[in-house]
Amino acid sequence: MISVKNLSKEFNSQDEKQRVLKNINLHIGYDELITIMGVSGGGKSTLLQIIALLTEPTEGEIYYGDYKVDFKNERYINDYRRNNIGLIFQNANLISSLTPLENLIIAMDTKRSYKEKVMKAKSLLDEVGLSKKYNCNVTSLSGGEAQRVAVVRALVNDPDLILCDEPTGALDSQNSKRVIDLLMKIRNERKCTIIIVTHDREIGELGERKIQLREGEIHEVDNHL
Ligand SMILES: Nc1ncnc2c1ncn2[C@@H]1O[C@H](COP(=O)(O)OP(=O)(O)OP(=O)(O)O)[C@@H](O)[C@H]1O
Ligand SMILES: [Mg+2]
Repeated sequence: MISVKNLSKEFNSQDEKQRVLKNINLHIGYDELITIMGVSGGGKSTLLQIIALLTEPTEGEIYYGDYKVDFKNERYINDYRRNNIGLIFQNANLISSLTPLENLIIAMDTKRSYKEKVMKAKSLLDEVGLSKKYNCNVTSLSGGEAQRVAVVRALVNDPDLILCDEPTGALDSQNSKRVIDLLMKIRNERKCTIIIVTHDREIGELGERKIQLREGEIHEVDNHL
């Protein structure tokens, strides 16, 4: 599904070059559950942002199937991301001037009719126990509720790939469990690939593939050892 080849990323900070990712090679297949852990500053978010086509690598290539990503072709990659990749971050990042229902609808691709969009958005919110919150003010949602909206927003276009950067980082343990259970349910029902960056060891253990990022290099934990 995705191949990352010889990928490196440098940032320039005060005349000094910082090499955050070093020659990363990674193949990600369909229907995989991958967790990524590692110390703060190790490059986890940077790697996820590159896979999400939000940041251009300094060197190396990414293939989505046979398509070699051209980071210069912004319009194409924006469309590609919107249609194929679901993104979930530590904070829900909902649009506060819109209702939960509208936050989902605005993230949908343009192919569907408005009526279809509303139906789909409602059924997703129903799935996460937010039937009573379709039209509320998003600022009135609790952190856990807002994050559940963010999770289903990532699903509106039925992506093959869901990328989560510390999806429970801002939640208490009960809400954290609810979000993780939801991600596991999504994975069982939809057969998509999910990558979760986390500092939580228990969540890290859920990965069928467990990756450690240390000083910009990947170390995959061999489950068979
Ligand atoms: N846009 C940027 N400009 C300059 N340096 C950056 C930028 N983004 C990240 N970095 C640097 O790259 C390094 C890796 O950052 P990254 O956010 O990928 O780490 P992380 O593993 O996600 O850490 P955390 O666990 O704290 O989220 C850090 O030293 C950071 O300061
Ligand atoms: Mg990070």
